[in-house]
Amino acid sequence: MSSRTLGPTESADENKVPADRIRLGSSDLVVSRVALGCWPMSGISSLGVEDQQSIETVHAALDCGINFFDTAFSYGYDGRSDRVLGQALRSKKNSAIVAHKVGMHWDENKQRKLDGTPKTLLAHAEMCLSRLGVEQVDIMYLHSPDPNVPIEESAGAIREICQRGWARYAAVSNVNADQARRFISECPVVAIQPYFNMFQQDAVQDLLPLTQAHGISLVCYWVLMKGLLSGHLLRDHQFDPTDRRLSYPIFQGAAWQKAQDVLDQLRTVSLDLGCTVAQLVVAWSLKQPGVAVALSGAKRPDQILESAKAKDILLSDDVSAMISRLLV
Ligand SMILES: NC(=O)c1ccc[n+]([C@@H]2O[C@H](COP(=O)([O-])OP(=O)(O)OC[C@H]3O[C@@H](n4cnc5c(N)ncnc54)[C@H](OP(=O)(O)O)[C@@H]3O)[C@@H](O)[C@H]2O)c1
Repeated sequence: MSSRTLGPTESADENKVPADRIRLGSSDLVVSRVALGCWPMSGISSLGVEDQQSIETVHAALDCGINFFDTAFSYGYDGRSDRVLGQALRSKKNSAIVAHKVGMHWDENKQRKLDGTPKTLLAHAEMCLSRLGVEQVDIMYLHSPDPNVPIEESAGAIREICQRGWARYAAVSNVNADQARRFISECPVVAIQPYFNMFQQDAVQDLLPLTQAHGISLVCYWVLMKGLLSGHLLRDHQFDPTDRRLSYPIFQGAAWQKAQDVLDQLRTVSLDLGCTVAQLVVAWSLKQPGVAVALSGAKRPDQILESAKAKDILLSDDVSAMISRLLV
């Protein structure tokens, strides 16, 4: 087992992209491989969220080398994460790369709705710019296909958002390989955003042949499986009854016990490597084929500071393979 710190001048490739960064597709966006996910800042599913702490979390992310931020129209009932992120980035000189998503929103009864009609996508994209206080974002994703709208139509709207100059590049999230193929036939993308973690690798496996053939980057969410894989939630953790994580199958019954068995082994490995479980999990994820970026959600500075240090862990192939064997 080995771990070492990468020097600041070490490069991942001949284009002199630093080892802790990656170029998205063939774009000029060179992003940190650990990125900050802004969903927790919406306060919709995370408990005890305070905007000032969220702003400090964005600043902590910038301070530790993260330059990639992921938000969405639906991260907040009325754009809370956009406003917090916009305020945090405005108050600090930075060169942040911001990705946004449209196609999902909350109705007046706080029910989540998918709407991939071009009219809504364009309207929501324009609103997000004013919430963030910018004229353009770097990436605009279709958040998720709308089953009532042909994906080609939604793709055309994302293309138009880019043509209007509201976003520099297009992307798409929550698609299978077939949907992705149909989307890119109308609108080329630099990234696809699927879920990915130690226990859920199917989406990335499905997309990998397509993304490799087209030079598209996979920006993965739920790498920490909503905190489960941070290792901080112990087997006997007493969840607040309002904690929405309890509705996920992996936070229940036999699946929870099985996950904790794996976590017990990861705790031993991380002790050997001198890192935390969260860092080991993020580092392992970034070593998996096709995984370009690990989105790490955080509502407090200490959480993103911990996850960001995964960039300093270089897992040997042997340790990575040993961890993979724990998961079968
Ligand atoms: N495209 C999509 O449809 C989609 C879907 C989901 C997420 N996303 C994106 O992906 C990002 C990541 O997903 P996520 O935020 O839902 O979940 P996540 O990154 O898997 O987990 C984040 C949660 O884990 C806990 N955590 C994070 N770092 C920790 C640390 N170092 N130590 C201990 N606990 C830690 C925190 O929860 P507690 O403090 O509450 O324990 C935090 O809210 C989102 O923020 C969003 O940007 C996209």
